[in-house]
Amino acid sequence: MFSSRSGVDLAPNALAVALETALARSRRVLDLTVANPTSAAIPYDREAILAALAPQAALVYAPSAFGLASAREAVARELSAHGPAVEPSRIVLTASTSEAYAFLFKLLCDPGDEVLVPRPSYPLFEHLARLEAVRAVPYRLAYDGVWHVDFPSLRAALSPRTRAVVTVSPNNPTGSYLKATELATLAALGLPIVSDEVFGRYPLRDDRSGDRRAVTALEAEGASLVFALGGLSKLAALPQAKLAWTAVGGEPTRVAGALGRLEVIADAFLSVGTAVQHALPGLLASRSVAERAIGERTRANLAWLAAELTGSAVSLLDAEGGWYATLRLPRTRDEEAWALLFLEQDGVHVHPGHFFDFDDEAYVVVSLLTPEATLREGVRKMLDRVARDA
Ligand SMILES: Cc1ncc(COP(=O)(O)O)c(C=O)c1O
Repeated sequence: MFSSRSGVDLAPNALAVALETALARSRRVLDLTVANPTSAAIPYDREAILAALAPQAALVYAPSAFGLASAREAVARELSAHGPAVEPSRIVLTASTSEAYAFLFKLLCDPGDEVLVPRPSYPLFEHLARLEAVRAVPYRLAYDGVWHVDFPSLRAALSPRTRAVVTVSPNNPTGSYLKATELATLAALGLPIVSDEVFGRYPLRDDRSGDRRAVTALEAEGASLVFALGGLSKLAALPQAKLAWTAVGGEPTRVAGALGRLEVIADAFLSVGTAVQHALPGLLASRSVAERAIGERTRANLAWLAAELTGSAVSLLDAEGGWYATLRLPRTRDEEAWALLFLEQDGVHVHPGHFFDFDDEAYVVVSLLTPEATLREGVRKMLDRVARDA
């Protein structure tokens, strides 16, 4: 009766069961996976946000496929202030980045077509692609002290059905930015580039690589098509606002063709609420309180981790940006077993690397958004456990 693409395995994994059990027993759990900024004790400019969300103009519905001109202009100003100039006519608003992926897969792919996605990376790609009857085919990110794109694996993943390459910069959870030379190599493939830049304004350290970071994939020269994704969920730490954007760049005739078809797709949904579109300039203007607090917390947490792990059996992988840190544990047990042990014995919740498809063992990922005291208590318990049970 149902489509095969909607059939996912809903059985909870062992870690989810253990978490449920711990919470049902009213055990105190130190959650080091917190990804929702609105439940992470982050300060916000509350008055400015609430004032922006109640505009008079929200009483009128004026549907527009790509969003209200005023909102698209605000996004274009925002992007142009930090990278190459972007015209408002090339901005497409959606309710979320997830919806932007869905629109782009509809635009670029027929059922059974393929998009290349980085690995390890954002676990949702698999679902988002599958729901559009598209295959997400991984290419590898390799780590040798810093992360980089493994181009041999990317070339090996190409097939006649490949329709786009997805990049995430900085990537979740590796924190690695796409470098300018990597972007140039991707552009030379001639495929559309879908560049997820939602964490772009959260560097954890300065760019000190000889190979500079690409500010945005929109800077790629000679690319056929580029779709740069961003949104309020990370930039303004307001996932509940439900507003994201796609900036379209590349070869002008192709850009015109893409926008024409995207208009048909977006017009069928008209999913972005009017109030949030009117609120957008105010929300962007008020974000500095939360943005600064997140920047300070993530960097402080990372610096504390680096110092605390020195000399221990747990090491910290390089992270350049974003909200996550990856820890490598002794391979005396697999990462799932470590994560279960931390949760069941110590009440510490972390994500095992396989959630993000790390291709070897044994990694766990912690959120740098976690309040400092919780992160410190949780990591110290993990270190004690490793010292005892490795
Ligand atoms: C790489 C990446 N892209 C997109 C999102 C979500 O964005 P949105 O809330 O706009 O769908 C996340 C959320 O964690 C993410 O990690």
